[in-house]
Amino acid sequence: MGNLVIIGAQWGDEGKGKIVDILARDTDIVVRYQGGSNAGHTVINERDTYIFHLIPSGILYRGTTCIIGNGVVVDPSALIEEMDQLQTKGIKIGKNFAVSQRAHLILPYHKAIDRAAEQSKGSRKIGTTGRGIGPSYADKMARIGIRMGDLLNPPLFRKKLEENLVEMNWFLERLYKVETFQVDKVFDQYMGYAERLKSHIIDTTTLLNRALAKDKTVLFEGAQGTHLDVDFGTYPFVTSSSSSAGGACTGTGVGPTMIDAVMGIAKAYTTRVGSGPFPTELTDEVGQGLQARGREFGSTTGRARRCGWYDAVIVRHAVQVNGLSSLAVTKLDVLDGCKELKLCIGYKHKGVLYKEMPADLEALTDCQPVYQRMKGWSASTTGATKYAQLPVEAKRYLDRIEELSACRIDMISTGSKRHETIIVRNPLKCSRRRPRS
Ligand code: GDP
Ligand code: IMO
Ligand code: MG
Repeated sequence: MGNLVIIGAQWGDEGKGKIVDILARDTDIVVRYQGGSNAGHTVINERDTYIFHLIPSGILYRGTTCIIGNGVVVDPSALIEEMDQLQTKGIKIGKNFAVSQRAHLILPYHKAIDRAAEQSKGSRKIGTTGRGIGPSYADKMARIGIRMGDLLNPPLFRKKLEENLVEMNWFLERLYKVETFQVDKVFDQYMGYAERLKSHIIDTTTLLNRALAKDKTVLFEGAQGTHLDVDFGTYPFVTSSSSSAGGACTGTGVGPTMIDAVMGIAKAYTTRVGSGPFPTELTDEVGQGLQARGREFGSTTGRARRCGWYDAVIVRHAVQVNGLSSLAVTKLDVLDGCKELKLCIGYKHKGVLYKEMPADLEALTDCQPVYQRMKGWSASTTGATKYAQLPVEAKRYLDRIEELSACRIDMISTGSKRHETIIVRNPLKCSRRRPRS
């Protein structure tokens, strides 16, 4: 079994949680490497439905260790709430769960700035989740961030907090005209979180590399998606982290030579939450149909997701920038009963035909998608577990997706439950590329 990175190939919510849950059964460690509680990963097993925001989607297996890597921004209140909910449901969270001491904290002023900045942007707003993600990463890059490890050193934590609040309160009061924060209150609150979390805060990079040296297998659980990546996404309508494959290394301290394969997860159509360009968006009843059948409401904020046809241009872009070794296509069942399907194979803008993803936001916003039409299928694919069970039109649709993205499909998801999955080839059975002594 190899070490595999799971990546969203579109704009998030592709079904990464379901796929990670399936693969985690045969994996020793699952590690989140970027993002924070803006993520919402749904897992449905025979017992219950779980939505993971920070804790990796492998936590349901007793033998799997779950790690929050250094690249994640952690809101301790959200983390503790999630731990409590899981423990109430009988899920053990002890030595099987660790958080990097290098992971940056989300503080109350990050959430306040996130919300106030969005409000002040008016129609230019990004539509963030309001979880303080952008401001926390901004502090990390500005080298004024406070890390999980600082929670274990109260005088140092207090000093950093005091220094930061001078600046943050200035912004909150003068620029945004909203409430400010008191050092004592935040300090006491965070020392309470420290007490609860201290046994989990460790050097996860050493833990991961020691495990890899013993040939343990690691699954890297990406959050968001390639087109929300701060470099490769539809900037500035993106999140503030590296949600593409490169983030798996910087966000964990595991080197690229230790990674064997990268699987991109793509829905059989496209969705997006929040603002930003979406060339294949459908605002008519076809889009509403996808939204209703796919139950396209955000797992974190409950917002309705925008829906549209499958966009092969963005998925091919994801294949390139992540070096995808395979794809998992999810929610095929949602297309059941569509008479005709459209696949976007390029964009037209001001007389130019784009076959690759343009970096120019204006072109992406105003372009006309170029479609290939395909016949739909009337038979049900819901719950199919074997490729042979799929209608011929569905097979043709998947073949065309493979062709257009120049990437093989390893898994097909045909329903939200664990077993509603076709495994064409187990992506964990990827060969180790690195030389052995
Ligand atoms: P993630 O953020 O990528 O983990 O995806 P989300 O959990 O936010 O959203 C995916 C939604 O689709 C969840 O409600 C899943 O239960 C559901 N889902 C996943 N795979 C399938 C599928 O193949 N068919 C259907 N109908 N639902 C699916
Ligand atoms: P998972 O991991 C879909 C979107 C927000 C907004 C933009 C920036 O469940 O796929 P942020 O709060 O990150 O600053 O918001 O990114 N966004 C997501 N969309 N799935 C997600 O995560 C998302 N996380 C953030 O809607 O447009
Ligand atoms: Mg989600």
